[in-house]
Parts: sequence; C-alpha cells; structure tokens
Amino acid sequence: MKIAIGSDHAGYKLKEEIAKFLQKEQYNFTDFGTCSPDPVDYPDIGEQVAEGVASGKYDRGILICGTGIGISIAANKVPGIRAALCSNTFSARSSIEHNNANILALGERTTGPGVALDIVKIWLNTVFPGETRHKNRIDKIHAIESKHIQKGE
Ligand code: RB5
Repeated sequence: MKIAIGSDHAGYKLKEEIAKFLQKEQYNFTDFGTCSPDPVDYPDIGEQVAEGVASGKYDRGILICGTGIGISIAANKVPGIRAALCSNTFSARSSIEHNNANILALGERTTGPGVALDIVKIWLNTVFPGETRHKNRIDKIHAIESKHIQKGE
C-alpha cells in the first residue's frame, strides 16, 4: 500500500509522529510536508495529497491540520476523494467499511497523539468489504460529484 501524508503547520508535530510510526512499521509512504512549524495554508497541502491519491499514485492519504476540518474540506474538493475526519477508532473503521475513505484527516489540536496513532493503525488495517449495501451509497456520492462537474460548478 502506497501512502501519502501531509499537514499544515498546526498538524506538523502529529504528522512527524505518524511518519515515525509508518517508518518503523515499514510502510511505503511519501511526506508532502510541511516540514517546519512555519505557517502554511492547509488547502495547498490538502490538494497535493488528494491529487496524488485521486490519480492512483497513492492508495491512501493521511492529512492533518489544527482541527482536521479545513484540510479535509480542501481534499474533498478533488474528484474521487473521500476524506474522512476521524477523532475515534470507531469512526476510523467505519470510514473504510461504510465509506471506503481514501484519505484520513486528523486534528492535532483536537485529538491527542495516542488516540491519533490508534486511529491511524485501525484505519490502515481496515479493508473495504466491496460489494455491500454501502457500495451503492458511495456510487451515489460520486454521481453527485459527476453531476456538478458536468454542470461546470
Ligand atoms: C491553522 O491555524 C488552522 O486554521 C488550520 O490548521 C485548521 O485547523 C483549519 O481548519
């Protein structure tokens, strides 16, 4: 599994923790930054990681900002992205099983590092079960996307 990770300055510390974990567990990952606590704009990082995942270059992405809200909203603007902001392991598991999320978003200011790492572990170890009642709902999400792309909105 190829993973893309990224954060703004408010998620930088947690991103470094997650990078350490991914390295230790020998995951194949690319870090899109940011690489310091200096302020950057979360849409810039969210877009890069989302484009990497939407293009198929990466299987999944992990994005962090202060709350996880801004960066998940930005990522979800890229067609094909299903970014899920999770603050607990139940949501993390469900985001794959029910929504086939391809990006996990976390908030460094809202979720402690221990919980965040548990969320990452569970999220990476959960597999979308495929043809279930949920598949049709996910298809409907992308039908909304396609409809609005066609309208040029
Ligand atoms: C940055 O100050 C903060 O606004 C950002 O990290 C995030 O929380 C936005 O949703």
